[in-house]
Amino acid sequence: MKRSMFFLDQKDMPTHWYNIQADLPEPLPPVLHPGTGQPVTPDDLAPLFPMELIKQEVSTERWIEIPEEVLDVYRTWRPTVLHRAYRLEKALDTPAKIFFKYEGTNQAGSHKPNTAVAQCYYNMKEGIKRITTETGAGQWGSALSMAGAFFDVEIKVYMVRISYDQKPYRRIAMEVWGGKCIPSPSTETKAGRDMLEKWPDCPGSLGLAISEAVEDAVSRDDTHYSLGSVLNHVLLHQTIQGEECRKQMEMADAYPDIIVGNIGGGSNYGGQFLPWIRDKISGEKPDMRVICVEPESCPSVTRGMYAYDFGDAVGMTPLFKMHTLGHGFIPPPIHAGGLRYHGMAPIICHLSNLGLVEVVAAHQTAVFEAGVKFARTEGIITGPEPCHNVKVAIDEALKCKESGEAKTILIAHSGHGHFDLAAYDAYLSGKLKDYAYPEEEVKKAQAELPKVAA
Ligand SMILES: Cc1ncc(COP(=O)(O)O)c(C=O)c1O
Repeated sequence: MKRSMFFLDQKDMPTHWYNIQADLPEPLPPVLHPGTGQPVTPDDLAPLFPMELIKQEVSTERWIEIPEEVLDVYRTWRPTVLHRAYRLEKALDTPAKIFFKYEGTNQAGSHKPNTAVAQCYYNMKEGIKRITTETGAGQWGSALSMAGAFFDVEIKVYMVRISYDQKPYRRIAMEVWGGKCIPSPSTETKAGRDMLEKWPDCPGSLGLAISEAVEDAVSRDDTHYSLGSVLNHVLLHQTIQGEECRKQMEMADAYPDIIVGNIGGGSNYGGQFLPWIRDKISGEKPDMRVICVEPESCPSVTRGMYAYDFGDAVGMTPLFKMHTLGHGFIPPPIHAGGLRYHGMAPIICHLSNLGLVEVVAAHQTAVFEAGVKFARTEGIITGPEPCHNVKVAIDEALKCKESGEAKTILIAHSGHGHFDLAAYDAYLSGKLKDYAYPEEEVKKAQAELPKVAA
């Protein structure tokens, strides 16, 4: 029998998140206060986040225990299954062994609940009654709305206007879970009103939606803000994926030569590859390749600058050392999927800077072509974001066909595309066009970066 699914029993689920900060060859650059240029203190962050999350953000403990109440909720869908993609391998006629760990089977459809549940839990423990957030494609807003329902926390979501218009079912899903979702820019915040005055039809951006959610949160004592990606504690919560996967790959008697995942803010892929990259850092697996894939239309790492920048559009957040297209970035409306954030998780940027991960960019028509191939072989309709990984995994599997090498490729599959059928429709009807972010825009953003003393 060819086993194509690897199940981990619930009793064997990891009980700790893995913290890469314990094993980094060099520590992360500090997060800076934009006013003083000095590293931020816990007090600076306390109006936005509960203290447990602030501690996790800077912790260098290798293992952080997952609270029992969080594990209880995780057990409503975890462990997720590790699949062997035999049918895709056969269609490609490749000797490569392709595995994928699929995070689309939970109630909200992506990896996002892994951190949404943890963040809601810590906020609830600190007595917070309301959380604001942004969402791009709607996956994060859905996950946080569901988590809010589980822990009785009110959720307010600022959804990037273009996605709000393109994906009305995501808004409805959030409302079913009890969240409130409005399009950003909105008239409810100064950040939103200022933008609407300048540009009434502004399609919005994640950076601007973050500004609105932060402004809303700091204006009320009962409210905190929650970010679905980028920050260290978010990647930390996502490591449940990679820790499970290590056990499952062992069941399959396999170890990845290549791991591939998409990076929007870096949370899903960080959650998968960080638990593996410690073997590369320790020298045990020096040749393992970790490939991050981003879109050509939002090439934050491949073409952005590695510099200090704001996490939001208006300049309300601290400054993060990251690859950035500039906090004023407004994504081209032509782009079909998520992955539209101007910056990137500082952990991933740091690892890229140290030469431990590779980053490549892909055009959207090739990405959807791969998604269609995956649907027609493995059956799953993949979200536009993980279609990026499928594309690069197929490229690598075809290289194996040429070289005759039977490499093991692991795809971090971050979610389904059931709410993205309009984008598939545009692809199938030939309306989807490729778009490379213009070089003048990259240069313009460079000039607008906040000044930080070296
Ligand atoms: C399914 C899916 N994968 C990936 C991403 C990209 O975000 P991140 O890099 O934080 O995982 C998103 C963002 O919305 C998503 O919905």
